[in-house]
Amino acid sequence: MSQNWLFLKHFLRSPIAIGSVMPSSRHLAAAMVRCVEWEQTRVIVELGAGTGVITQEINALRRENSSFLSFEYENSLRENLAQCYPNVSFYKDAFRLKDHMVTQQEDKIRADCIISGLPFANFSQQQRDNLLNDIYDVLNPGGLFVAFQYTRQLQPFLVSSYDKLNCHKVWANLPPAYVYLCQKTSGSKAPVDVHRRGDERA
Ligand SMILES: C[S@@+](CC[C@H](N)C(=O)[O-])C[C@H]1O[C@@H](n2cnc3c(N)ncnc32)[C@H](O)[C@@H]1O
Repeated sequence: MSQNWLFLKHFLRSPIAIGSVMPSSRHLAAAMVRCVEWEQTRVIVELGAGTGVITQEINALRRENSSFLSFEYENSLRENLAQCYPNVSFYKDAFRLKDHMVTQQEDKIRADCIISGLPFANFSQQQRDNLLNDIYDVLNPGGLFVAFQYTRQLQPFLVSSYDKLNCHKVWANLPPAYVYLCQKTSGSKAPVDVHRRGDERA
């Protein structure tokens, strides 16, 4: 079954959780990974992997010795991905992000980059707030949160939380999507130029 049909099948079964009828286009997938400084990125998290169009981009670009944790709620999608990408650690529920950001010795791990395809607009306000706070907490100083959304609903939270924010629209996607690039306050790391690909300031 093609990725589009597989995705549509899941959408018809759980439209709210899936959040769109088609996987992201290659243009949107490329826009989601373009601003990441891959050489400096050791821990990457993906939320809402779906059929893996963005997973594939991340896996191709990340450093060899980096850690990649990817979350996908739908069991069959996640199982397919785990077969395709044996070098990626897959987990089910993005709402349990913090629980999984630990080593075997229970030490906390922080992410340098979190890339999200989650349908935030379909979550309750409480769920949305909790998850956005968890994402912020697990990001390293200087870390980057990249999210695509079909509306600007998250913007007030992102503006108030992140040091640097850029939003641009990718028209070549069904439906067109906003890509948010959000950088947490940097420690000693040089800031990522989140403005370099943007055409629309948030
Ligand atoms: C709009 S789709 C994006 C899929 C893929 N990233 C893409 O760009 O084509 C959203 C995905 O988030 C997943 N999802 C929804 N709620 C989730 C949760 N709580 N934890 C993990 N994944 C979730 C859905 O199953 C779906 O695959």
